[in-house]
Amino acid sequence: MSQAGQGPRPSADAVLGSLAALTDDGILTIGPRGRALDLNRAAAAMLGWRRAGSVRGRSLEHVFARAKPRDEAGRPLAPPEMLERAGAVHRGIRVGLTSPPGTATRWVRVSSTSRQRGVTVVLMRDITPLVATEAFVGALSHELRTPVTTILGGTKVLRHRDLPAEVRRELYADIEAESERLYRLVEDMMVLARFERNHLTGLADEPLLLQRILPGLVASEKVRWPGRQFSLDVPADLITVRGEHTSVEQVVRNLLGNAAKYSPVESGIEVLAERDHDDVTVRVLDRGPGFAPEEAERLFEPYYRSPEVVGVAIGAGIGLSVSRRLVEAMGGRIWARPREGGGSEFGFALRALDEDEG
Ligand SMILES: Nc1ncnc2c1ncn2[C@@H]1O[C@H](COP(=O)(O)OP(=O)(O)OP(=O)(O)O)[C@@H](O)[C@H]1O
Ligand SMILES: [Mg+2]
Repeated sequence: MSQAGQGPRPSADAVLGSLAALTDDGILTIGPRGRALDLNRAAAAMLGWRRAGSVRGRSLEHVFARAKPRDEAGRPLAPPEMLERAGAVHRGIRVGLTSPPGTATRWVRVSSTSRQRGVTVVLMRDITPLVATEAFVGALSHELRTPVTTILGGTKVLRHRDLPAEVRRELYADIEAESERLYRLVEDMMVLARFERNHLTGLADEPLLLQRILPGLVASEKVRWPGRQFSLDVPADLITVRGEHTSVEQVVRNLLGNAAKYSPVESGIEVLAERDHDDVTVRVLDRGPGFAPEEAERLFEPYYRSPEVVGVAIGAGIGLSVSRRLVEAMGGRIWARPREGGGSEFGFALRALDEDEG
């Protein structure tokens, strides 16, 4: 019953068309001869096309050519076979898409309807954050197990009354070291959560003398890594910078911890602080495995770990991303560079305190 003033009811096609334009899910329709009939804005973006028009009427191979679909093991997926599998499995299959080339893989869940009246509808939902979270939770459980096992096992053994004093001391030292690792991990996770919730900084803006802060940090790191050589070179007359004391400590501990974790025990770790115009820079240099120059920026992405280090040293992949957020919130910058002669340089710079303000 149509009422005056309401106008004609929109057709089902018009409603579906608006939904397809609004949603972030990619929708692709395929015609009887396996050619693309249409795709919405989201699907075009996922598949690397600026305009849907560029693929209408084209073959499936062409439509997916830019995004290079791969399965979870990294094997290439042929589009027709991929859609067949997606249609056969309830809730679809996971597919990695890389578009534009060279960017990080996006993960989508591809589901497909069985052909109705010759038309197949393909739905692509971006589940990249879910996949990243799964990987993080996996790495985190792994990362938590070692300290928790040591602490639990150690305290149980300590109950025995007639334990030699030396063994007792070692157990206390292990428990302390592992508790500290847990504490740092939680500290990093709290910063990450804080930044993820809002982009507000809320960090204190204090005048800091790095020549006062660095020696204690290097000393406590030496205790954490017995047998490792750390050298510190920091001029006594460095200018005052601005930042938050506890955050600077957290950043330096992350960089020192990485250098110690990823480089051979017998190689030295150097910490250099110096003035650079209106900044003070702190650089941590090691002779570890280093990384390719084009990987440098990725190291700061949350949860990212080099394929080479996975299995060599444990980690959650958050230390550097947290450090970057902290340094940038203090108005500074942070970088990673392969080091000449092998190894890495991880450095950050903080701004000098304005004389007028000081
Ligand atoms: N000194 C280094 N030498 C070589 N690679 C490094 C170094 N420091 C960091 N990386 C690379 O950067 C990645 C990210 O470092 P990040 O500190 O964020 O995570 P993590 O050390 O793996 O775990 P955690 O969250 O426990 O610190 C590392 O997994 C490693 O691949
Ligand atoms: Mg780390």
